[in-house]
Amino acid sequence: MATNPSQVDRKNDAAADSKGGSATDSFIGRAAVDAKLALPEEIQACIAKQEELKAKGKEVSLADILVKVGFITKTQLRRLLNPAEDSASHSLHQIPGFQIMRKIGAGAMASVYKAKQLSLDRIVAIKILPEHLSEDPEFVERFYKEGKAAAKMNHNNIVQAIDVGEYGGYHYFVMEFVDGQTVYDELVKSRTYSEKAALDLIIQIAKALEHAHARGLIHRDVKPKNIMITKDGTAKLADMGLARQADDAAAAQAEKGRAFGTPYYIAPEQIRGVVDVDFRADIYSLGATLYNMVTGKVPFEGSTPTAIMQKHLKQPLTPPDHLNKSLSTGLAEVVERMMAKDRNVRYQSTTDLLMDLARVQKGQAPLQARSGFDDKLLEDLATGSSEDIFESSPPPRAAQNYVMVPNSTYPTWLVGFALIEFLIIVILILALAF
Ligand SMILES: Nc1ncnc2c1ncn2[C@@H]1O[C@H](COP(=O)(O)OP(=O)(O)OP(=O)(O)O)[C@@H](O)[C@H]1O
Ligand SMILES: [Mg+2]
Repeated sequence: MATNPSQVDRKNDAAADSKGGSATDSFIGRAAVDAKLALPEEIQACIAKQEELKAKGKEVSLADILVKVGFITKTQLRRLLNPAEDSASHSLHQIPGFQIMRKIGAGAMASVYKAKQLSLDRIVAIKILPEHLSEDPEFVERFYKEGKAAAKMNHNNIVQAIDVGEYGGYHYFVMEFVDGQTVYDELVKSRTYSEKAALDLIIQIAKALEHAHARGLIHRDVKPKNIMITKDGTAKLADMGLARQADDAAAAQAEKGRAFGTPYYIAPEQIRGVVDVDFRADIYSLGATLYNMVTGKVPFEGSTPTAIMQKHLKQPLTPPDHLNKSLSTGLAEVVERMMAKDRNVRYQSTTDLLMDLARVQKGQAPLQARSGFDDKLLEDLATGSSEDIFESSPPPRAAQNYVMVPNSTYPTWLVGFALIEFLIIVILILALAF
């Protein structure tokens, strides 16, 4: 593909997104920075100009301003907007049944296009994978298997998967087109969410996950970029069934500059590369997303993916209510329980999580987040099968309130009596000696 976006750090993305602009403005800003056609500061200056004009009642697109001030040429703009000029979309242009309209986004792994499905005369989104992934037969097999499983799901909070296929050497994934923005788009504009607004969205996504988990599907890549919000406020989980197929840890290990995302939301067991990653990894990532939404900060910062991953594994989480004092204790407790480093300490079902989220939403105290250790955990501790609970994770907040006093084997009076006896003997020995 001609446009192969590199990893762009949050600062660049923040600058590239237009404050209050349209989705196309956001995309153009990001794409221009990605393609190194403009600096983030230049995009920011154009956004400021756009807002200034808007205040005077003149609506001008960011693209027009970029061209007008000469940061990009008309041809460059056309290439950014018109997928027919890159080779992948050129092949797709002829894909039977679809007509590509324009590029609407690009991530680390693929590009996303708005298209018309001719048979049903409806707008869809098509994600096209780069050619090199097609050369890995294991990847292709999983892509189809998970794509089919995702297409069987039907939930209002999941971006509906429609089809998977291959054309001209490119594998593609057809899905419902969501007219809206991602949570990430909001966060990079430095907009944090109120507790109420965040809970409303996270509950919708937890419902989507409950639906998927009940059908044995794990997302594996829950993060703000994969949560889309429609104009009427419906949250939709994107990329279900398209979870990062490459080994998470290996992908995340790749240092800056490589085309991989930064592991801000990854669960510790995914980093350790355990083979049986389960729904609890999604609960951790959803917790990390909620943390980001209400504090405006990712749970662990670091200059390299490796540094961030080390922190997911070992560093205790700064409680979210320490960063945002307006948060309720209940919400903080739920986030901490979701983000326990040991998955055995997290919620043990998405339904349990939903119950606590609903309680916090109603202003009630969460039940599960305060329940301390359960019997299963204590059994695991006794048999040593638990995952380094105290080495890698602080006990749940509720448990921190308990002070552990070692059980004394002897009654206190007996200990006191023995002590007095010992002192008398010492005094007698000293008296005899002198
Ligand atoms: N179904 C959809 N409808 C509308 N826009 C979409 C849809 N799916 C994705 N997009 C847009 O395309 C962008 C790129 O999506 P993609 O999944 O390729 O990458 P990402 O999730 O943003 O990042 P990463 O590759 O790091 O996971 C999204 O940020 C979103 O703006
Ligand atoms: Mg995505």
